Formats: sequence, structure tokens, C-alpha cells
Amino acid sequence: MCGIIGCVAEEPVAGILLEGLKRVEYRGYDSAGMATISGSRLAVRKGAGRVSAIEEARGMSSMLGKVGMAHTRWATHGSVTDENAHPHASCGELVAVVHNGIVDNYISLKKGLLAKGHKFRSETDTEVIAHLIEDEYKRTRDPLRATLAGVKKLRGQYAVVVMFQDRPDVMTGARKDAPLIVGVGEGMMFLASDVLAFIGHTDRTIFLDNYEAVEITKDGVKIVGPDGKRVKREPDQVAWELSDATKSDYAHYTLKEINEQPRTVVSASVQDAGKVERFARAIRKAKSLYITASGTSYHAGLLMKFRLNKEARIRADVVVAGELKEHAEFLEKGSVLVALSQSGETADVMEGVREAKGRGVRVCSIVNAAGSSLARESDEVLLLNCGPEVGVAATKSFTAQVVVVNLVVDAVLGKTRPGGAEELSRAVAEALKCDGLVQELVSAYADRPDFYFVARGYESPLALEGALKLKELSYIHAEGMPASELKHGTLALIEKGTPVVVINPSGPNHAESLANAEELRARGADVIGVSDVKDEVYKHFVRVPKVQPKFTPVVEAIPLQLLAYRMSVARRNDPDYPRNLAKSVTVK
Ligand code: F6R
Repeated sequence: MCGIIGCVAEEPVAGILLEGLKRVEYRGYDSAGMATISGSRLAVRKGAGRVSAIEEARGMSSMLGKVGMAHTRWATHGSVTDENAHPHASCGELVAVVHNGIVDNYISLKKGLLAKGHKFRSETDTEVIAHLIEDEYKRTRDPLRATLAGVKKLRGQYAVVVMFQDRPDVMTGARKDAPLIVGVGEGMMFLASDVLAFIGHTDRTIFLDNYEAVEITKDGVKIVGPDGKRVKREPDQVAWELSDATKSDYAHYTLKEINEQPRTVVSASVQDAGKVERFARAIRKAKSLYITASGTSYHAGLLMKFRLNKEARIRADVVVAGELKEHAEFLEKGSVLVALSQSGETADVMEGVREAKGRGVRVCSIVNAAGSSLARESDEVLLLNCGPEVGVAATKSFTAQVVVVNLVVDAVLGKTRPGGAEELSRAVAEALKCDGLVQELVSAYADRPDFYFVARGYESPLALEGALKLKELSYIHAEGMPASELKHGTLALIEKGTPVVVINPSGPNHAESLANAEELRARGADVIGVSDVKDEVYKHFVRVPKVQPKFTPVVEAIPLQLLAYRMSVARRNDPDYPRNLAKSVTVK
């Protein structure tokens, strides 16, 4: 959470920073700000609000200087105010910092700094970093040493970028448990929380490891380890392109990403067979198997468990990432942990993964962001290959996860060339045609306070996913559950006109789900069927194409995503930036 971009270049950087900042705004959008140094003067412009509003109010694009950094905030410590927006300068204005993370020991650090005479201007935990580094810089006059010495006093998580008012030629950074990436350009060098921040300028990247610090100039990079010793690392090339990070002709990133799925289900299926087999072998040989993830990725994990149990007869426990530590005693040598994450930076997931690794567990991950912490710290990695997902709601990454999960389960079952990607792509394109019908549903139900989603068996995670998507984009209360659970409580909430989405493909559970739909109708619900077969019990019917059973969640996800998106637009929300949320949840 929080987006960072810093740049040292042989040209003015304000425009480059603003463009990058807009691309990482999905990481947090409470406040925004920028700092540059020009003629030995540190200038900071910032405020509460979205990047475009702050840019208009404060004129960030006209800031002068060939070194600068910018930040978009998702508030943790300190309310959403102009003063609490980043960057934060030290009291002597010698040092300015931007930060992503949480400083757990900031209260004791602040007390010590106040006792030394430092003056604070914000309520944030971040501001202590500026003062700490200022003290170290006054002592050493060495930006990199001062940065390393300053961050060593922090407990918690941080990705920080630092500028020094009397050194307009350099910028430093450091990280622990929050991403910080060096972008290596021609005559320009970047530090950012996300590759998207600089993707139009360079595709050459160096991912910093925990406890490392870095100093960049316009044409040099120096990385040091926690002991201050130089670390040599060559840049990697990222596969993402600038067009991946733009909205094209779509009104929103979310809509673009929903519509990309006929292509991304195919790209997700293109995997190195050897890597898939290694992943599958680890699962087959595991003494015990755990699957962990958060949010939408957790729903993909539930689908994986289902097929492993039912078809491969392999027992797997799926644990929400933030709860994994509660079950840590079962994570033992010989076990395997499968971690699913779009961003590869989710703090809850990383905490679980590190706990497991520390206990000798083999970690196999399915992740979208190559080079992310999860990708780098896992023993086996399969990438989703669906391109950057900018919309805060997970859409194409979910369907890509289902595709990759299926490849792994098929390999566990000994099916090494399962195929079916092109057929699935056509089915997804067909499913997208339901948009008109979905818009009719939105007109009928945009004012309803509650929505319910039910399904059975393999589709049950889709009920959870439909509800999650609707909640986060439309702000309508929604619940998802196995259809069998209705009669154990939730039926009491059903009244005349309550919309209930029944996800019900043809197959072994079809008749039982229809019976549940009848029970709902009998109590006044407006039943919305999502299925390949129509039935008169449904007041509204969204047809999805018939596909192989393992792929039904992919085609069923499409109307659920469109429903959430269209509902968000109808209720005048911003679907790309839902309130209180941010993509890449790097705090616990
Ligand atoms: C829902 C959504 C979140 C994420 C969750 C995990 O639409 O986007 O629930 O799925 O924060 O994120 P990753 O997959 O990046 O670990």
C-alpha cells in the first residue's frame, strides 16, 4: 500500500514523476505529494486527495529539479490530512523521505528525537525516519551510510526513498518487508514500489532484498547489504509493456481487465512444463499440504483444494493467510505450502510464507508479479502471465489463477498436456456478451441494500467471490455461502425482492441447487441464475457457456465481475479506486 516513485535524471523530473505516480495510484489514494530539489532548495507540495486533485491544487507538474520523488498514500498512522501526506522533511529541511510500511517503534523513536530538539509537523510514523536520517547525515555526510544507519533503528516494515537537500545528484532507498525496485534507465534512474511507475522509461529492473539499501545517481546504482558491504546485482528485464499499464479506450482499468480475459486465460496456460511438473511433484510428495492466500486469491485456493481432494485424493488445508500463524505448529519439515497472490507482496501472505520457510516447509507459489517478494522467496514459482492488474478488484488475475491451479492439479493427476485453453478463451469471450443483461440487473437492483450469492461444491468459492467483488466495488452488503447453508440461518433475511444469485452449472449438484432456488423463490427472493441451463425458477437468467467442469469458475466469474463493475458505476463509485481499499496490501 502506498505508491512510491523517485527519479534522478539528466532532465527535469516533475512530469516523469507525475505520470508514474498516476500509474501506482491504485496502491493508495488518500493523499499525494512530491518533493524536488532545485538550486539547493528542497520543495515539497502535497495534500489530502487524489493525485489529479493535488496536482491541480498545488501545481506539482511545474516543480523544478532533476531529482525528485512522489508518493500516494494509504493512511495507517495519522488521519488523512495535508500535513500527514508524504513527502516528510526533517526539521532542518536537509532530508526528505517517502515511505511505504509501518514503523512499529515510532513512539519511542519520536520521544527520543523530541528530547534531542527535533520538531514534528505530522502525526505519521514516517516522519521519524526523516529526523533519524537527518541526524545520521549530519554525522556522516554520506547519504547511503546515513540511510542505512537510520533505517537500522526502525522496527516494522519499510520501503523508504530519501533525498538530501545538498546532494541533488543522489537519492537513496532501503527496504524491509515492503517492495522497492530500482529502474535502470538511460540517463535516468528510478526507485519505485512498483515496476509500473517507470515502465514507459525502462524495462530493466533490480529488486532490492530485505535489509538492503541503495544509492542511485542518474547513471549509477550502488547496493549495499545491512553490513554496508557492496552487493553486485545485474538488472533483469520485465515482460510488462507500457500499453499494459494504460486504460486504452476503456472507461476504467477494471473494465479493461475484465475484457482482457479471453487473452489472459490463454497466456496463463503457457507454462514451462518442467516447472509445472516440479510444482506437482512437490505436492505429490508432501507430508502434509497447506494452501494459503487472501481475498480473491484465497477463493482460487479453495478451488485448488477441491480438485486435489476430489480428483487426486490429496488432503489439503486452505488457511486464510492472516490466520496461518495460528496453525504454525502443523507446519513442519516435509510439508508443502502453496501460496497464491496476484501482487506477491501481500503482508499476510508473506508473513505466513516466512513462518513456514523458517520451519523447513517447501513453498510453492502462484503469483502474477515476477520479482515480487513471494516470487523471490519461494522454492517453486509459476507466474500468472496475465500482465499488470491495475484495478483494485482482482479480475483477470483470478481467472488466470484458476487456469494455473488447474494445470498444477492436472499435472498431479499425471495429465501433462491438458489443453483446452483456446476453447476456454472462446467461452470467456462468449460469457462477456452478458454485459447488456447485467446492466438490466443493475437497473433493477442498484438500490437494494443486500445481495446474496449461493452455490454448491466446486462452485462454492464463486459465491464467496461474487459477494466479495460486489461489496468492494458497489458498497452493497453482500454475502456468499454454500447453498446448503441457507436454511441454517440466512433464509431468515430473505424477503420479497431480495436478489439472490444462484451459480448453478449443469452437473452433479444442479438439481439440489435448483431445489434451493425454489426455496428462495417461495420466500419472495428474486433468483438470478448463472448457469449453462435455463430454468423457470430463475427470475433472471445469465447464460454462461458450457465448458469442461474444471473451467466453470472461469466463465461464471465473468458475469459476477461485470455485475460488481456495472453496479459500482451505476452507484457513482469509482470502480478502479474503491473507498478505503488499495491494491497490494503490504501492511498487516
Ligand atoms: C479482491 C481483491 C483482494 C485481493 C487480496 C489478495 O478483489 O483484490 O481481496 O485478492 O488483497 O491480494 P494478492 O492476490 O495480491 O495477494
